[in-house]
Order: sequence, then structure tokens, then C-alpha cells
Amino acid sequence: MTIKQRQILVTSALPYANGAIHLGHMLGYIQTDIWARFQRSQGHECYFAWADDAHGTPVMLSARAEDTTPEELIDRMIEEHKADFRDFGISYDNYSSTHSDYNRQQVEQIYQRLDEGGYIVRRKIKQMYDEEEGMFLPDRFIRGTCPKCGTHDQYGDSCEACGSTYSPTDLLNPRSAVSGSKPVLRESEHYFVRLAEFEQRLKDWMASGALQSEVANKMQEWFTDGLRDWDISRDAPYFGFRIPGTQDKYFYVWVDAPIGYISSFRELCEREGLDFDHWWGVDSEAEVYHFIGKDIVYFHTLFWPAMLMGASFRTPTAVYVHGFLMVNGVKMSKSRGTFIKARTYLNHLNPDYLRYYFAAKLGPGTADIDLNLEDFVQRVNSDVVGKVVNIASRCAGFIQRKFDGRLSKNLPAPELYSSFIKARETIAADFEGRNYQSAIRRIMSLADQANRYIDDEKPWQQIKREDRQEHVQGVCTQGINLFRVLITYLAPVLPFTAQKAAAFLGQDVDDWQALDQPMLDVPVNTFQPLVTRIDPLKIKAMVDDSRESLKLAGSKPGMRVT
Ligand code: 2FM
Ligand code: ZN
Repeated sequence: MTIKQRQILVTSALPYANGAIHLGHMLGYIQTDIWARFQRSQGHECYFAWADDAHGTPVMLSARAEDTTPEELIDRMIEEHKADFRDFGISYDNYSSTHSDYNRQQVEQIYQRLDEGGYIVRRKIKQMYDEEEGMFLPDRFIRGTCPKCGTHDQYGDSCEACGSTYSPTDLLNPRSAVSGSKPVLRESEHYFVRLAEFEQRLKDWMASGALQSEVANKMQEWFTDGLRDWDISRDAPYFGFRIPGTQDKYFYVWVDAPIGYISSFRELCEREGLDFDHWWGVDSEAEVYHFIGKDIVYFHTLFWPAMLMGASFRTPTAVYVHGFLMVNGVKMSKSRGTFIKARTYLNHLNPDYLRYYFAAKLGPGTADIDLNLEDFVQRVNSDVVGKVVNIASRCAGFIQRKFDGRLSKNLPAPELYSSFIKARETIAADFEGRNYQSAIRRIMSLADQANRYIDDEKPWQQIKREDRQEHVQGVCTQGINLFRVLITYLAPVLPFTAQKAAAFLGQDVDDWQALDQPMLDVPVNTFQPLVTRIDPLKIKAMVDDSRESLKLAGSKPGMRVT
């Protein structure tokens, strides 16, 4: 059966350029990467383009705190981020920065089109201003006493104690988190996008199936509440792109961040000779998917499609929302050592372990995912090492030692092989629908069957009998072929292990269609252990290390912890 080749662009939420990547970020990136790798394994043309989110007040203040410039900070961070992604096997095709010239031009073009379309209005508003620092304060940089419950030291927009949301002017005894001074109200002209203009088109887009049901429900509530104008300007000092025609107004970071998806892809198009308009034109038949966390749904389902509509670009095919990462059942915590940076993890553990665990837990919905460290060790050791890799290691030795490294000419149990191939469509549907946990369950149940087959055949006993030699070669060939099917299904999840498996098999494992032909009468290479068991001591070392490294670094203002 030939499948129509699809053209697919995927993106992940752009990480802010003022902090290290942590495992909470990695949950979304791994989810995206598995999907992109899966699409490629089906023969589709799939690109993954994204960037560092370089702008905004937190980046500006982090740079200041380090006594450096924002440009220097973002240049350093992007290198760190890219190294983390590479070492976690994130197979992106382009990684850019929202501070790039491509993005500046793209932002200016989109803004100009919105303005020409009459979607921008300007009006004066009053906001909290820090006179000592000479800057307007974003809500998160104002602290004070909650007007509802009286808890001290709460953010300007919401209370962590009672959960209520309010305006910073309601906060009692407000203080600037930058200077500590008492902010005053000051007037300034702001630029707004008239979101209500897009209401019907947004509703149509929502009805096209672009959203998970729980996300669509949320969006419905926003429509019911009424769409308010969206403030897209910020006054200097601000690290961002200046709004054309102004001296001291900058685009709010959430304008140029999603536009970074487009400009990163444009960069890729220029490099690879792809036709940009074919992908992003209004009538494009290509597919565009954004993977994001549930805290930034508003930006991706209202502001972003509205900007695209107003500027005559296509809208996303879908926005896929995932939940937050918990560690041991609670929010990642610095004091518990469970606020784990990507690099700290990599210093102790194989990236495929985490990729596997996340896959085993990720479903299509927006539920939070718990990384339970004990369960993590147990699950990876029993599934990846004990079930999947074990199939190959049980068979490879005999093939190597007794049959000159060569597989038999026939499979002794062809129907078992066929049943593994038959599962392909269901497993593919699971991956397609981001139901990775279901895909993993099915693959592991096949792995159990493969191990049972070997248990029943007992090649280690039969090998002692002269007249059973050929049969043992067949049994081991069967086992290795079943392993090949499983590792091919798992390759989007376990790219590093799959690469080693490919070296053993002497062929790639990244094409699901290639499984139609079993490997027969061909040599395989010497088997090297593909992945070792997790030693629980390494987990302890990683947790200790996390506690330590965060103690040294301290916490940064405005850093989002998910
Ligand atoms: O919430 C965040 O971490 C943002 N940096 C995500 C931006 S995603 C996109 F729109 F650019
Ligand atoms: Zn409160």
C-alpha cells in the first residue's frame, strides 16, 4: 500500500533565552520530536523549525543582573540550548532566534499588514511605573499584598495562595520587584490588535478540528467572556524590536515569539530551497502543527491565528497542548532537587531513558505527566532493557558464534512475524494521535510475545542437539526479526538505541514500510549492548547535583517554572 506523502511542519514552544532548559521543557520537546520522527518514518516530508525566544523584560533584566548585554546573553544561551537539544536527540531542521533579521522583517511585514487592514488601534492607558528604574513594570515584576486574602509578597496579576486574579492597581502596598520602590501610575500610548474583528474566523478555525476538545471548551469560554483588544506594544526600555514609525515603542515579546515559527521556517526554506509560500500561503495544503504547554494556549489559539488571519497567512492545522511535568507527584522543586536541568540529567543518564518514560506516559490530552523517579528506573529497566533489547541479546550470540553471523533463509514462524507487521497500522494511528502511551503498551505486548516465543523454543537447550542446529538458527533469526520490527516502531522514541540497533542489524530502522521484507540470509554485525540498566545510584547523584547546582545559581526573576 502506498501512502500519500504529506507535507508537515511542526514546532515546539520557543524556550526563553534567559534560562537553562529543564525537564519540564523537555517534556514538550520530546513529545514534538517523537511526532516529527514518526512522520518521517512514514515517508512524509516533515520539518521541525523553531527558535529561542529572545525578547522581553525578563531577558533584559537577567542580562543586567549578569552585568552583560541582552545580545551577549542570548548568544550564549542559544548555544547551550542547542547543545541540550542535540544531546537529547531533538531532530530539528532549523533552530533560530527571535532576535534574527529574518524575524524582524517578518514581524514588520505582519504588523504592516495588520495596520493596513485596520486591525491596529492606538490609545492611552495607565500602568505601573518604576520611577527609580525609569521603566513600566510588567505585572510579574510588581509584588504586594493580595487584595482578596491578604497574603504578602504576591505577583501583580494573581495570588499564589488563594488563586485569585486581579489588576496590579488592586494590589495592596505594591512594590517594584526591580528596585523595591513604590510604583506610580503613569500614562502612555499603547498599540492594540482588535481581536474581536477576528471572532467569526477564529470560531470557524476552532470548528475545523484544530483543537483538542478541552482546549476548544476553554476557547469557547473566552468567546463568551468577549474578546478584548490585545496590547502589543511596550515602552522603552525593552529588549525587542522597535515598532516602525515610533521612537520608543517595542513589540511585546508575544508578538514576535510565534512569528519566530514562521521566520525560522523561512530560514530553512532559503537554505534547503523550499517554497515558503507553498507552506504558509492562505490556501496551503501543507500541514502546520504547534506543540505547546497548557499555560500558553491563549496566545496560540487567539492571538496567533488572529495575527495570521489579519496578515493573510494560513492558520495552523492544529495546536497540540500537553500538560505540565510533575516530579514525584509535585511541581518540580529546587529544594527537593527535582528541578532538574536538561544538562544535569544528561551528565548522569542516557537521554533515551527519559524519552521512553515520557512516551510511556503521554496521552493525547492535556493531563499533567508525573516523572516518578522510582517508577522511571523500574519501567525503563523492565521494558527497554528487560523486554526489547533482551530479545536481540538472547539471539545474537548464537547467530554470531554458531552461524557465522548469518541469518537463516526462512522464518520458522512467519505468522508470528506477520502479526507483528499487522500491528503497524494501529501503532501508527496511536503515534499520529499522540497517544504514545497506547503505542508503547502495544509494542511492549509484542515484546512479551517475542520473549515468550524464545522461552518456548529454548534455543540454549536445542543448540546442544546436532539435528536442531538449523532450527536454532531459524529461531534466532525469527527473534532478531521481531526485534527489528519493535525497534523500528520504537525508533521515534529511542533514537540513540535505534542507531545502535541499526549498526548491529546492518540496516536502518527508520522506515516502517521496509518491514514488509524480513531480513533473511544476510549477515548481522557483532552485538554490542544497546542500552544498560539504570543504576538507582545515578538518580540519587542527579538529584543531589540538581540541588547543588541550583543552590549555586540562585533563582532568577521572571523565570517560568512548569
Ligand atoms: O512560555 C514560553 O516559554 C514562551 N517562551 C513560549 C513561546 S512559544 C511561541 F509562541 F513562540
Ligand atoms: Zn490571595
